[in-house]
Amino acid sequence: MLEGRVFNFSAGPSMLPEPVLVQAQQELLVYPGAGASVMEISHRSKAFDEILEKTKDYLKKLLNMPDNYKIIFTPGGATMQFSMLAMNFLNGGTADYINTGSWASKAMSEGKKHGNVREAWSGKSENYVRMPSSSEINISDEAKYVHFTSNETIQGIEFFNEPDVGDKPLFCDASSDFLSRPIDITKYALIYAGAQKNVGPSGIAVVVIREDLLSLVPEKLPSLLDYKLMVENNSLYNTPSTWSIYIVGLVVKWLYEDIGGLAKIEEINKKKAELLYQVIDESNGFYKGHAHKESRSRMNVTFRLPDEALEKEFISKASAEGLKELKGHRSVGGCRASIYNAMPYEGCEVLAQFMKDFAQSHG
Ligand SMILES: Cc1ncc(COP(=O)(O)O)c(C=O)c1O
Repeated sequence: MLEGRVFNFSAGPSMLPEPVLVQAQQELLVYPGAGASVMEISHRSKAFDEILEKTKDYLKKLLNMPDNYKIIFTPGGATMQFSMLAMNFLNGGTADYINTGSWASKAMSEGKKHGNVREAWSGKSENYVRMPSSSEINISDEAKYVHFTSNETIQGIEFFNEPDVGDKPLFCDASSDFLSRPIDITKYALIYAGAQKNVGPSGIAVVVIREDLLSLVPEKLPSLLDYKLMVENNSLYNTPSTWSIYIVGLVVKWLYEDIGGLAKIEEINKKKAELLYQVIDESNGFYKGHAHKESRSRMNVTFRLPDEALEKEFISKASAEGLKELKGHRSVGGCRASIYNAMPYEGCEVLAQFMKDFAQSHG
């Protein structure tokens, strides 16, 4: 860890890989060959064109993406995607949504503004403690697509296999586990992620879309909300967030070149999560995990202590020791450790030890 930096367990924006920050710092004033900062060059310049193409190339390699998939960078984070996908593909019809938690519910609320949103499964009555098996999901004939959230950031539950939706186009909000493990991209018609957890800075989303969907895009959508136009213009219909795309480019290069790809980062992520869940399981009930074991997220570890006063003390003592942002989301309370790709293994080791010590002295 670089001098002065802390282990930041924030759910997002969250830690970025240090080599990425160092390279961005080195190139902040003068991007090699451009004689200016990336923030100062035209989005239509040769230098930026290379940044954009390299970023997409690394993403393609990481995801093993066939040519009939297109990558775009959109403004507005994942929340904008909730609306954009519904404006493009729901458009007055019916779509099925798998309601697994706070973010799936938000996607549904936005979808409802553009058509009939059907709940294909809901975990609400169980307080969103698990993901469903495919046999529990009820897909309707009329659904234009099925939408799911691969990782519920607030509840800390994750799908490790895509729901089986037959031949329906599968849409996925992967904001909080994108690029954290290999996926079979060909199972998806559309997958998107707000960048600020595993991929880069806040404010943009990375979207991967299967090309055949573009023929379904209706006329006269606002230009920036039109997938067809965004793909045709290679995300350059207007001036995109060039700096954010540049950082995403550094992150995907780090993931491919330094880490060795998604199978490698999955191994590391599994080990990090296991460290924390093991402490929870061996604490004799001092820590109680929110998620059922089979749905435990490798990205967001959510847990409670015996009472709120202890939770407060836990969070403040951890913070004093450089373990920051362990407070759970305001809607569910408790504690949450977000341990995305850039959280070093060492950060989880230090937190695990802190949790053990805290339980011993307060249990
Ligand atoms: C799973 C998930 N979906 C959507 C969002 C919303 O993302 P944004 O703030 O980029 O719109 C978040 C943000 O935390 C998230 O975790």
